[in-house]
Amino acid sequence: MSEDRELDVVVFGATGFAGRLVAGYLAGHALGGVRIGLAGRSAQRLADVRARLGEAAAEWPLLVADSADPVSVAALARAARVVVSTVGPYRVHGLGLVEACAAAGTDYADLSGEVLFIRDSIDRCQDVAADAGARIVHGCGFDSVPSDLGALLLHHAARADDAGDLQDTTLVVTALKGGVSSGTLASMLGQQDEVRASAERRQVVQDPYALSPDRAAEPNLGDERDLDWVHYDGDLRMWVGPFVVAGINTRVVRRSNALQGWAYGRQFRYREVTGFGTGPAAPMLGAAASAALKAAEAGLGFGPSRALLDRLLPEPGQGPSEKTRRTGLFRIQIHARTSAGGRYLGTIEAQGDPGYAATSVMLGESALCLALDRDRLPDRAGVLTPATAMGLALADRLRSAGHTLAAQRITQ
Ligand SMILES: NC(=O)c1ccc[n+]([C@@H]2O[C@H](COP(=O)([O-])OP(=O)(O)OC[C@H]3O[C@@H](n4cnc5c(N)ncnc54)[C@H](OP(=O)(O)O)[C@@H]3O)[C@@H](O)[C@H]2O)c1
Repeated sequence: MSEDRELDVVVFGATGFAGRLVAGYLAGHALGGVRIGLAGRSAQRLADVRARLGEAAAEWPLLVADSADPVSVAALARAARVVVSTVGPYRVHGLGLVEACAAAGTDYADLSGEVLFIRDSIDRCQDVAADAGARIVHGCGFDSVPSDLGALLLHHAARADDAGDLQDTTLVVTALKGGVSSGTLASMLGQQDEVRASAERRQVVQDPYALSPDRAAEPNLGDERDLDWVHYDGDLRMWVGPFVVAGINTRVVRRSNALQGWAYGRQFRYREVTGFGTGPAAPMLGAAASAALKAAEAGLGFGPSRALLDRLLPEPGQGPSEKTRRTGLFRIQIHARTSAGGRYLGTIEAQGDPGYAATSVMLGESALCLALDRDRLPDRAGVLTPATAMGLALADRLRSAGHTLAAQRITQ
């Protein structure tokens, strides 16, 4: 369907903070011969971005498209085999492009961490994308690639050992250092506003299976709410507290399980937490972090503090400095028990600010994976997840790019 396209990959939003980083990653890492284009709503700003990308990008075509103009969006969707979008907030700007890519049979990847937007995308585009053979993949950044590939690798490791299904599986963030951009803050605030304004939307966000392909068929595993306060976890033998993006990642991982026919297991209980260790300060640190998260959430809902925050937000296009991006990092462990009593440990790590340096690698490699690794991709189309759309092919690419992704048995 999409073999005759003018381009292999086009980056929509190339003038924004994350888009510039993704374009820069592709300019530095895509092999010669991969046809890449930059898209956005201003030809001049695109030309400025391209000029700063160096020789490799000098001939890259520029495509003008505005998310508010369906004709330009449809043309964008037909121009490339893979469209990568960093035009957010996605709930404001995203759905038209997803619909256009689904209809055109064009693969699509983005950085959305917005549950409501992804739910809308599933409801509106699943059937069209599946019929047209398009892979629509949300969450190809720090939300939710480490979580989603980590769970997949654990599943494969347990399967290879004939160790049964995954059961209690907990992702623990043991180190996280980085910054945040104006675009990410705008996306978070936008979803918060929508949730506050509508009880129905609030229910969707709170549902652990919010992104399920078949909600009625999901198992009933009791209380699966995300953690909201620090406590000592006897199984992990450390203090754990909430992880700020558990609300999106857990839903994506559960969708991956369901899209694979619940291959991880029907008793797959998945959660994500921040680890605070075992030292004497751990409970205090955990309580302080949990309280800060609650205060931030409450502040977003309180008129005067919300108005102040809106005024203090950085300008669009701004984000963490080069030094913050370079010195950032993340370290994640995923602890799993299987139905046959095996214990497994997943390790996912990368140097570089998670939301921007590491994320631009993840989205850039996702684009190349969808465009170039088709023979290795799972035979699936529709609104997918990183694990179900790209799976082990993406894990291999990220390892080659210097990220650690591993899963191994630790006891009988
Ligand atoms: N999940 C993750 O790990 C992760 C990490 C990083 C970012 N993100 C997400 O990525 C998104 C972008 O973040 P960011 O920091 O790069 O934001 P940003 O700097 O504000 O960039 C937004 C981009 O969208 C473009 N845009 C805005 N309105 C448009 C329209 N009507 N038509 C076409 N393009 C339009 C802007 O173009 P102009 O230059 O013309 O204004 C700009 O290129 C956010 O939703 C954020 O949450 C997610």
